[in-house]
Amino acid sequence: MTNSGKPTPPPYFNIDPETAASRLSQPIDTLRFAKAATFAAKGRDDLAKRGYAPDGRKRLRKFSTWEVCRYLLDIAPAHLRRVLKAHPDLPQGTGEGNTKWFTLEEVLALRDHFATEGSAAKQYKSWRPKGQPAKVIAVANFKGGVGKTSTAAHLAMSAALDGYRVLVIDLDSQGSMTSIMGGKVEDEWQTAFPLLARDYARHVQAENANRRLAGTTELPLDETLTESLEVSPRNLIQPTHWPNIDLIGAQLNLYWAEFQVPVWRMQARSWPLWDALTNALQTDQILEDYDIILLDTPPALGYLTINALSAADILLVPLGASFLEFDSTGRFFDMLYSTFASIEEGENRLRRQDGMPEMKFEWDAVRALITRFDASQQTDLANVIQAYFGDFMTTYRQELTAMVGQAGEQVNGIYEADYREFNRDTYVRGRETFDRTWAEIKEILLGTWWRDMQMEAHEDGKA
Ligand SMILES: Nc1ncnc2c1ncn2[C@@H]1O[C@H](COP(=O)(O)OP(=O)(O)O)[C@@H](O)[C@H]1O
Ligand SMILES: [Mg+2]
Repeated sequence: MTNSGKPTPPPYFNIDPETAASRLSQPIDTLRFAKAATFAAKGRDDLAKRGYAPDGRKRLRKFSTWEVCRYLLDIAPAHLRRVLKAHPDLPQGTGEGNTKWFTLEEVLALRDHFATEGSAAKQYKSWRPKGQPAKVIAVANFKGGVGKTSTAAHLAMSAALDGYRVLVIDLDSQGSMTSIMGGKVEDEWQTAFPLLARDYARHVQAENANRRLAGTTELPLDETLTESLEVSPRNLIQPTHWPNIDLIGAQLNLYWAEFQVPVWRMQARSWPLWDALTNALQTDQILEDYDIILLDTPPALGYLTINALSAADILLVPLGASFLEFDSTGRFFDMLYSTFASIEEGENRLRRQDGMPEMKFEWDAVRALITRFDASQQTDLANVIQAYFGDFMTTYRQELTAMVGQAGEQVNGIYEADYREFNRDTYVRGRETFDRTWAEIKEILLGTWWRDMQMEAHEDGKA
């Protein structure tokens, strides 16, 4: 307000076009982006030198006797103390007094000890059938910000705390999951990209063998493709600060796959591009090394997401209880339908011609999952959504909790946070919301493993 009593007009009044034009730079050409990138890279180094960059190495906190006995193992604190005293070779934990602190490695060792020595009536180790491959869980929705990465990261961590061996594959070039897991990724050669390239390159090799016999022109195998033939998923897997979570990370260049895959497919129409990730997990025995493989996907139904969905046994579709997210999730299912139905149609047309059996995609289970739920505001809407999705929806709604958003540079999510920094009730409630999501997904996981086992036994019986 000025002294004359007349308020200053809002800043968008009386803008003079001529002055505005005089303040513009010349039109921008593409080269200018290179300049911006160069400046940003210099600035980044400068900031890193001044200590702004996180030191990069993540460390997992320790777990107290209280947490071990309340959340990780089904034992009373007094019993744990007795067992530790009787077995000085077991990890004793650190710290003064009755509360000891254990690393997750130590907790896992204690879990093993109790599973072999402890009461047979108690389940110290989560169930997992021998000989069955890992279950692949994809978290997808073409909307961003719905909680895909948070859900996938929390599931990975709860499964790890439960003693499972987890592989997380980040398929989002934004790399949020990779930073949560403390991953280091230099370029696309350390992401899932070479797995797609290798799958195509192997297809070209097989195709060219046929072409040589038929005397027709062979398909080109450029430098990238040749190089990809040397890559195995094992070279791409990196350990994380969680002893039983490994990672195939992502960074911006992974996005290149979205441009490259359709080009390859144009060159060889017979390449089943949706199978690339499945093939990588199968042929290199990755499914044997882990219990659970979690795929985090970008907010788009691109080629990476299609690969994730096609590799998945279980599909989770997070959404907030809002009209817009419900609406777009409905359309996401519609897109899934048309995408996969058209792949099936195209494939089966060819297969019928060749007298081969038809293919069809199949998932063990699909669940929409309400995330960031605020019971005081969204119960009505969530009930309506629940009614429409029916058994396609988890019964538990993952609640909004300040403990997730607040997480700092080094800490991500509820399982990495130290409970002593929060009010105990806030912690217990915040944690419960992710524990209950895990419980529901774990039930699906165990159920599908069990079903697979029964089917296998049935097949064996017939054979
Ligand atoms: N249960 C929750 N409570 C509070 N904030 C959440 C919760 N789940 C996710 N968020 C926040 O919502 C935002 C979007 O979540 P994110 O998992 O990154 O979504 P997406 O991967 O679908 O883009 C993030 O800032 C995340 O911290
Ligand atoms: Mg994400």
